[in-house]
Amino acid sequence: MEISSILQGGYNHPLARQWQAQRQLDKNMLMYPIFITDDPQAEVVIPSLPGQKRWGVDKLEGFLGPLIKKGLKSVILFGVPLNCQKDERGSPADDTEGPVIQAIKKLRTLFPELYIAADVCLCEYTSHGHCGLLHEDGTINTPPSVERIAEVAVNYAKAGAHCVAPSDMMDGRIRAIKLGLMGAGLGNRCTLMSYSAKFASSLYGPFRDAAGSAPSFGNRKCYQLPPAGRGLARRAIIRDVSEGADIIMVKPALPYLDIIASASELAPNHPLACYQVSGEYAMIVAGAKAGVYDLKTMAFESADSMLRAGATLILSYFTPQFLEWLDEEK
Ligand code: PBG
Ligand code: ZN
Repeated sequence: MEISSILQGGYNHPLARQWQAQRQLDKNMLMYPIFITDDPQAEVVIPSLPGQKRWGVDKLEGFLGPLIKKGLKSVILFGVPLNCQKDERGSPADDTEGPVIQAIKKLRTLFPELYIAADVCLCEYTSHGHCGLLHEDGTINTPPSVERIAEVAVNYAKAGAHCVAPSDMMDGRIRAIKLGLMGAGLGNRCTLMSYSAKFASSLYGPFRDAAGSAPSFGNRKCYQLPPAGRGLARRAIIRDVSEGADIIMVKPALPYLDIIASASELAPNHPLACYQVSGEYAMIVAGAKAGVYDLKTMAFESADSMLRAGATLILSYFTPQFLEWLDEEK
């Protein structure tokens, strides 16, 4: 054998195997998605999203306190309004008494060190369940959608969110939000994380159950990207960088690793997030339950693949488990 054909000497030890990674998963890289509902006492199991619950504002201290002790650094908030009047323009999204604004304020006082991102979208709050405002014929009316989404984002930032993350996929919203933040004097105080390459995926089902955000008619294919659209994803990433995004995101993560790799090449000067979405999480949990693999091993394999593709930040429902697992011996 040639000397150059012998590779195994380089990874025969567990520590040497860790050195093969360019970057290793670290607690700082994890952002935990949480669902906040408008009953302050709520703690409701979400059947399609095993282990996750909808939380009321009064329960956040008991829920997050122990996780923060274990090293949780950031969360992203999703509002699940159940006792509100949904309308055409998603008015409850930035109701000052609504779950997201209440949760931002509460978390800022409870946990001053916690980084708080707020997802910005209208689908949880519109009567029709679409992510923007509609024309009479049910198609998206872009200019007022963008204006409304920017308004909501600025109101979350004013309430104290460290980061606003628009997931609506309306054209031009990154620029509008950035200008809105600057106009409110928050341009230098709030991070703008764009769901840039967000695909029209089958993997959002459990989330839509959890958030009550499924569209009442039609689908999201005219604003979320077609799964085969590599070129479109690249254009969306380039566009959002030029419109002022501070962080670029790819979503879902595991079936779109090539897009994550593209994003790290197209936006090498930005942090790069990926979202291991509800369906990916549920799929991994279900596979482990069916005996296909060990849950922890598979969860790390999925995260390592995202880091290998270039992600620097992972939004994941596995966050509480990763905090435990990262303290264990590998
Ligand atoms: C709302 C939104 C969705 C997700 C994040 N923000 C669902 C959708 O676009 O229908 C999905 C997250 C997940 O599946 O975990 N725009
Ligand atoms: Zn939406």
